[in-house]
Order: sequence, then C-alpha cells, then structure tokens
Amino acid sequence: MTNSPRQPCLGKVYLVGAGPGDPGLITLKGKALLEQADVVVYDTLVSPPILAMISEHAEKIHAGKRRGRHSKLQQETTRLLIEKAYTHAVVVRLKGGDPFIFGRGGEEMEDLIQGGVPVEVVPGITAGVAAPAYGGIPVTHRDYSSSVTFVTGHEAVGKYRPQVNWSAIAQGSDTIVIYMGIHNLSQIVERLQAGGLSSDTPIALIRWGTQPEQTELIGTLGTIVEQIQKTQIGAPAIALIGQIVNLHSILSHSRPSCL
Ligand SMILES: C[S@@+](CC[C@H](N)C(=O)[O-])C[C@H]1O[C@@H](n2cnc3c(N)ncnc32)[C@H](O)[C@@H]1O
Repeated sequence: MTNSPRQPCLGKVYLVGAGPGDPGLITLKGKALLEQADVVVYDTLVSPPILAMISEHAEKIHAGKRRGRHSKLQQETTRLLIEKAYTHAVVVRLKGGDPFIFGRGGEEMEDLIQGGVPVEVVPGITAGVAAPAYGGIPVTHRDYSSSVTFVTGHEAVGKYRPQVNWSAIAQGSDTIVIYMGIHNLSQIVERLQAGGLSSDTPIALIRWGTQPEQTELIGTLGTIVEQIQKTQIGAPAIALIGQIVNLHSILSHSRPSCL
C-alpha cells in the first residue's frame, strides 16, 4: 500500500428535505433524523416549527442563502459539513422543500463524496407541488394538464449552466412551475409570450405556501406584472402558469389546514 492512511470518518451527513413549511409535511425519516442529530446545518427557508423538532442537544448552525444575503458561501458550508462529519455521528443538512429540486443537494452530495464523507439523501415535498396544492391547484389534471415543467427563474451567473429555453417550455409544457422567479417575472412573461403563450394565459403566484401566512395572487400573463407592482408580493413565491390555475376558484374552497 502506497496511499497515506485516511483519517477515520466517524459520522454521516444526511441531506434532509424539510418540505415547504407546514410541519406536517416533513417525512417520518426526516423528523427522526432531526430528533437524533448531533449537528443540524439549516437553510433560511426552513420554517420555525420544523426547526423546533431538532433535538435540544444538537448544535444548530444557520447556513442559509437568500437573494443578496449570503450568510455562508457554498464552499464554507461544505467544509463545515465535512469537519462536523469527522467529529459527530449524525450530521443533518436541512434544506427547504426537496434537497434535489433547486436546493444544491446534488452539488453538496458530490462534494461530500469527494471529501470522503458518507452521505444519504432524504427527499422532501417540494414547494412547487405543495404550495399550489394548498392553493387549490393540482399541477396535473386529466382535462387541463398532461405535462409539468419545474424551472428556475433565477439563473446563476459566472459558471456554465444550461440556459432556460423559455420558448420551448411555452410550447411543450401544459403547466409551468417557476421557482425563484418573482424578481425576473416581467422578462420571463415576455419570453413566454414570445414563445407562443397568449396574454390571457392564467398565472398564480403563491407566497409562503403551506404556511399560515400563505398568500395567492391570480392573474394572466397580461396582467400579472402590474398586479405584482400594486400588491408588492415578494419572495419566497412559486409562479404557476397554465389552464390548471383556473381550478383555484373551485378547489381552493377546500384548503388543507396547516398543522
Ligand atoms: C432555492 S429554491 C429551493 C426550493 C426547494 N428545494 C424546494 O424543493 O421547494 C427557493 C425557492 O423555492 C420557492 N419556495 C420555497 N419554499 C416556498 C414556499 N413555502 N412557498 C412558496 N415558494 C417557496 C421559492 O420560489 C423560493 O424562491
């Protein structure tokens, strides 16, 4: 053997999806890990009732990122997780929604594996499905939508990433679910219309989905930008586009209650 011996790795990192906010929407596996955790490194969008599930003995570290407010850079977070895994048995990386849906879970998992750290993912319910559901909008429906696209409205700069082809999405998807889209919505709406969607296509914005403060704004591609300016609705919100939005007026009468 010519390789130098590696330090023993004692722990494991669990990438846990916290769900969209309602504490009833975390998985049983995710909750059990929060109760057993030695360290929990959590993101900004994890709701207070979910944070309250963390063992009182666990070290809690905020590593969240919100637009323009980077409390810890990604590399620092990965370094921290590796360091904690070498000294603790159960390290939970807690992320809003699902770790692999616009949550950088794949990137973090890759870095941890490269760092020699055992890692496992625990999926969560993504906001792009749950927020519409709590707003009375199913993302698929036999009469209105046979296809759904999850897309980011906030593309990273500086690094190679595939560009969003809004025109192809406009033509190819019955339902469009946009994450992180509120700040760029006027350009996105323009590009979708240039791709063939008419100005009377229904759109819903759902802010703080599944949480007591959930708010919804319903409009069309032609009206939504002005509505946003009037109501000042901000992040975090999911934008939902397609005929399924029309179901809001029927199905939202029977909305789920938050735990
Ligand atoms: C970095 S992405 C993380 C998505 C997350 N991994 C998921 O699966 O839901 C953050 C964006 O998700 C959306 N989001 C997350 N939680 C939300 C909620 N409770 N209500 C509405 N939108 C939410 C917003 O578009 C927000 O800007």
